[in-house]
Amino acid sequence: MNVSVVGSGYVGTVSAACFADLGHNVVCIDIDAKKVDMINRGEPPIYEEGLEKLLKKHAGKKIKATSNYNEAVASTDISFICVGTPSDAQGNIDLSIIKAASKSLGEAISLKKNYHVVVVKSTVVPETTENIVIPIIEKASGKQVGVDFGAAMNPEFLREGKAVYDFNHPDKIVVGAVDQRSDDLVCSLYSRLDREITHTNPRTAEMIKYVNNAFLATKISFANEIGNICKKMDIDTYQVMEAVGKDIRISSQFLNSGAGFGGSCFPKDVKAIIGKAKELEYKPGLLESVIEINEKQPLLMIDMLESKIGSLKGKKISVLGLAFKNDTDDIRESRSIPVIKTLIDKGAIVSAYDPMACDNMRNIFEDIAYYSSTVQALENTDACLIMTEWEEFKDLCSEFKVMHRPLVIDGRNVIHCKEIEYIGLCW
Ligand code: UDX
Repeated sequence: MNVSVVGSGYVGTVSAACFADLGHNVVCIDIDAKKVDMINRGEPPIYEEGLEKLLKKHAGKKIKATSNYNEAVASTDISFICVGTPSDAQGNIDLSIIKAASKSLGEAISLKKNYHVVVVKSTVVPETTENIVIPIIEKASGKQVGVDFGAAMNPEFLREGKAVYDFNHPDKIVVGAVDQRSDDLVCSLYSRLDREITHTNPRTAEMIKYVNNAFLATKISFANEIGNICKKMDIDTYQVMEAVGKDIRISSQFLNSGAGFGGSCFPKDVKAIIGKAKELEYKPGLLESVIEINEKQPLLMIDMLESKIGSLKGKKISVLGLAFKNDTDDIRESRSIPVIKTLIDKGAIVSAYDPMACDNMRNIFEDIAYYSSTVQALENTDACLIMTEWEEFKDLCSEFKVMHRPLVIDGRNVIHCKEIEYIGLCW
């Protein structure tokens, strides 16, 4: 099939490359000429495991990129909207990019004779496809949904760092279509993945995505609350959760307590569904607590630090791990950000190290010291905070000897060294 994908960010580029690998002809549409050139050269505009290999294999053959909506829509049967949905100043979802993409697609559809299907893949709050995307396309095209063009919502559940794998091995595929024709077309794209499909309407598909992420975020905040309580009684919360997770109704995944969740999805999506609930005059107390716990959690490490070494003024503190999770350079909503900010506010001198994310963090904190190895970052510091679950931190032990005081506060339960003054955040 011939597919166009609007937006060459993380979801768009991964989807485009994976659709091509499933045998479809793909046209990527992006207003950024630099990204268009990169994709046409087979270079991924973002880092994602396995993506470069796919782009190199298909660029110029099964994948092309352009900034021209009309050309891309004319040569394809179906267009996926994969643009960003950032949070606005109040934490609500900002749909301006979705609206602009919908308008451009509508204008391109107005020039087309054949039935074209528009699919929203970006994460959008329920009712967005029906109440915003479709009306904009109808207005810009002068055509009617379900009659002249089709529409659907098809959320993604891709983990950063594992997105190509997740695309090809989905737990579920959800298609919320406005009519049978759109549903058939979207489903046929995935036929080679051999996975049962949940057929529904657009607003339910949108809700499934939010509930999926909100539930996982809730599991983490739940694990953190239990972890904080366990810590007070010297109970090993990891052993508790391991046993509890054996109940198949609960499952052991996403019960690792620590500094909380970050990334481009969980914090933003939970806040967006809170905003939507409030708009509907419902107070989402549980979801608000999920965010509240997540915001307090990393700062408990500062309390622990102060209770050990007193005032932080002039103290040298190393922060190991800046990325929001391991195996990525992404620092969006990383729990290390509020920690570093508080350290700076309290007058500490920060030495930071991350295997991949130092460059990105420089854009937020220009004036802290970044090092290219753990040992350099640890040298002469009064304490160390572990903020990311990087594999390379797991064997750290003798390295802590270079510290002025080998005090380690572990926010990710990764350090197993016996020769240091060790404090686990929840354990
Ligand atoms: C998540 C979802 O997993 C994915 O399905 C969705 O489409 C996008 O959001 P991602 O943001 O890539 O993916 O990260 P994920 O691996 O889920 O981890 C998110 C955060 O939770 C990280 O900061 C991680 O450190 C934290 N986490 C995860 C915990 O604190 N405890 C856990 O048990 C698991």
